[in-house]
Amino acid sequence: MPDMLVNLLDIPPLEPELERMKNLQVTIRRALTPDKLQILEWVGRHSGPDTVGEADACFSRIPVSLFLATREKQIIGYACYNATAPDFFGPTRVMDAEQSKGIGRALLIRSLHAMRDEGYIYAIIGGVGPAEFYRVSVGAMMIEHSHPGIYRDYLGN
Ligand SMILES: CC(C)(COP(=O)(O)OP(=O)(O)OC[C@H]1O[C@@H](n2cnc3c(N)ncnc32)[C@H](O)[C@@H]1OP(=O)(O)O)[C@@H](O)C(=O)NCCC(=O)NCCS
Repeated sequence: MPDMLVNLLDIPPLEPELERMKNLQVTIRRALTPDKLQILEWVGRHSGPDTVGEADACFSRIPVSLFLATREKQIIGYACYNATAPDFFGPTRVMDAEQSKGIGRALLIRSLHAMRDEGYIYAIIGGVGPAEFYRVSVGAMMIEHSHPGIYRDYLGN
């Protein structure tokens, strides 16, 4: 999978995303360390065991570099940054029944704003899945010759 580049000086504003989420009774917020085990269990169940390693790395940092989408205290999605490498966004996941409602986009934009606030000017989407999601949501551009990237030495699949 190739990587993509996002110009953080040009990302969409956050407030309209959070407003849209409020209308869906969805809260986007940074994960709390006391919830770590519950979150990692959810990540393992929805994204697979290997992804737990990446999500776990987010809890090695304060503030935690993982955002959650929740409804009535139930996790419905998450997004990580600085999990696989510095300046990398991902992994991310919205549960199947909640997809195509803008939740993945809100998690992405929330995370990219956090990265910009931390001083990054560009962000890298590492080993992208659905490139179109990143292109339409935040204008991400494919990085030529970026495959194989950081996952070239990955022992998993
Ligand atoms: C990718 C994912 C996080 C997107 O979350 P989502 O909540 O379903 O996406 P959104 O509703 O926020 O979509 C935002 C935009 O991206 C588009 N989009 C979303 N998923 C897409 C896909 N797989 N292919 C093409 N476009 C896609 C939507 O059509 C929407 O476009 P619009 O703004 O023009 O309407 C979610 O589908 C998911 O968890 N997939 C499985 C895990 C995965 O692939 N993670 C990414 C690894 S890099």
